[in-house]
Amino acid sequence: MNDRITTFLLTPVIAAGLAGCSKSVTYADVEPVLQERCAECHTGDQEGVVASGFSVDSYETVMKGTKLGPVIVAGSSASSTLYRMVAGKTDPEIHMPHGKNPLSNEQVETIKVWIDQGAVK
Ligand code: HEC
Repeated sequence: MNDRITTFLLTPVIAAGLAGCSKSVTYADVEPVLQERCAECHTGDQEGVVASGFSVDSYETVMKGTKLGPVIVAGSSASSTLYRMVAGKTDPEIHMPHGKNPLSNEQVETIKVWIDQGAVK
């Protein structure tokens, strides 16, 4: 079978497996991703915090969002700026992490499922 068809057939299976997984995804699953990929610019008074107000210091600051308001809509990854930015669904200029390798598919999926399940702590 050709690779594109294999990918096409398997991607929904993997996504369904994660989404339908009985284990619920909480902030404890998401925090390591944010610490690894975002913290260098989005904690304390680092450049990302100064520029946008968005900080990954705690669950509360993540849920608070930017100076302009929330970037997570609990229950809807599709409406959540944070998910759209890391999933490459926004203008390339504001993809996060800035100027770095994108998150792995697994990291993006963890964030997606967490938001869709209600973005609980
Ligand atoms: C290399 C530094 C850097 C890294 C790493 C980084 N950011 Fe940012 N981030 C910025 C800067 C600078 C801004 C503000 C300017 C801009 O939006 O271009 C910003 C802005 C943002 C905003 C606000 C966007 C808006 O339009 O208001 C969000 C949300 C965000 N980042 C999330 C993240 C997430 C989530 C990660 C990790 C996956 C991440 N960032 C990693 C530097 C970074």
